[in-house]
Amino acid sequence: MKRIWAIAISALLALIVFAPPAFAGDAGNGAQIFSNNCAACHQGGGNFVNAAKTLKIADLTANGKDSVEAIKAQVTNGAGAMPTFVGRLTDQDIEDVATYVLAQAESGW
Ligand code: HEC
Repeated sequence: MKRIWAIAISALLALIVFAPPAFAGDAGNGAQIFSNNCAACHQGGGNFVNAAKTLKIADLTANGKDSVEAIKAQVTNGAGAMPTFVGRLTDQDIEDVATYVLAQAESGW
C-alpha cells in the first residue's frame, strides 16, 4: 500500500515539474496551430492565394503586419480571401500562432 502511494506521489510530482507552462505567446503551440490551420495557404511563410501578401518580413512590414497585435487582428478578422478564425481557434491559440509567425518571419522562415 505504501508503495502505491509512493508511486502516485512521484507521478504527481513529475506532472507538476514537467508540465509545459502556458505562457502568453507559446511559439511551440503556435507551430502546431500553424501547420494545422495556416500551412494550407502559407506553407513556408508563403501565400499561395495572394503572392503579394506572404508572411515574409518584407511583406509583413510593407503591409503593416509586422507585430503580434497586427497578425492577431488578421487571424481574428480575416481579410480578402483569408477566412476569420474566430470560433475555430481560441484567443490563446491566436496569440500563440501570431507569436510563431512573427518569430519565423524575423528569422527568415
Ligand atoms: C484559405 C487560405 C488562407 C488560410 C488558411 C490562412 N490565410 Fe493568411 N492570408 C490569406 C490571404 C489570401 C491573405 C491576403 C489577404 C488580403 O488580401 O489582405 C492572407 C494574409 C495573411 C497575413 C498578412 C500578410 C501580409 O503580408 O499582409 C497574415 C499575417 C496571415 N495571413 C496569417 C495567417 C495565419 C496565422 C493563418 C492561420 C491561422 C492564416 N493566415 C491562414 C490566405 C489564408
